[in-house]
Amino acid sequence: MGHFVSFDQVSKIYRMGEVTIKAADKISFEIDKGEFCVIVGPSGAGKTTVLNMLGGMDTCDEGTILLDGSRISDYNQKELTRYRRYDVGFVFQFYNLVQNLTALENVELASEICENPLDASETLAHVGLSERMDNFPAQLSGGEQQRVSIARALAKNPKILLCDEPTGALDYNTGKTILKLLQDTCRSMGKTVIVITHNQAITAMADRVIHIKSGTVTDMALNPNPTPVERIEW
Ligand SMILES: Nc1ncnc2c1ncn2[C@@H]1O[C@H](COP(=O)(O)OP(=O)(O)O)[C@@H](O)[C@H]1O
Ligand SMILES: [Mg+2]
Repeated sequence: MGHFVSFDQVSKIYRMGEVTIKAADKISFEIDKGEFCVIVGPSGAGKTTVLNMLGGMDTCDEGTILLDGSRISDYNQKELTRYRRYDVGFVFQFYNLVQNLTALENVELASEICENPLDASETLAHVGLSERMDNFPAQLSGGEQQRVSIARALAKNPKILLCDEPTGALDYNTGKTILKLLQDTCRSMGKTVIVITHNQAITAMADRVIHIKSGTVTDMALNPNPTPVERIEW
């Protein structure tokens, strides 16, 4: 029985003139369906590169990437576009909301391009924003804007939710509530969630932890008893 996500000997080299950077060097790992997985490592380790290859925003030079039985690493540009559009939910550090659309309209924008979207207002209620749907991003706090961006990603009903430093722009307590929301969503919706962070402390709340350093996986560990984020401090 295959894993939901697998990287097998995946490499990525960035070339800029004479300079080459091996951002991913024979990366291998697996993630199972419904897991809350944290990928941790220092700045420049290759975390974003890994997430972008898994999310179809970047291609690998070598190796095999599988998601739900599909060989992402073999996709052409057209297939990658479909894949990004229908199968992947992305959450970024700086929310990337459309400033002249309300919270509800931002979520609808994503759900409208999908095959089996979730209801936009129900999804906003799920992230705790039922009272703020008609607000514009500038009228919302950072944490609320990140909730909108999570709702936008979830409303696509994606196969996987990829979160690149989702608390990087938030204060300590707000960051914790966002991590809790991501974990609760993983549990209640059975969604596979991957969170990238440079913060080692966050690994305690994960089902699976993948350590990345200098473009390589240095450790992968399963955590049978994840710590609730409320009990983690850093
Ligand atoms: N598009 C790109 N072009 C050139 N170099 C890149 C590009 N993306 C990332 N890199 C380089 O690859 C390495 C890994 O970057 P990245 O995956 O962003 O690390 P992390 O997310 O762990 O901080 C870094 O040295 C970075 O400068
Ligand atoms: Mg990064």
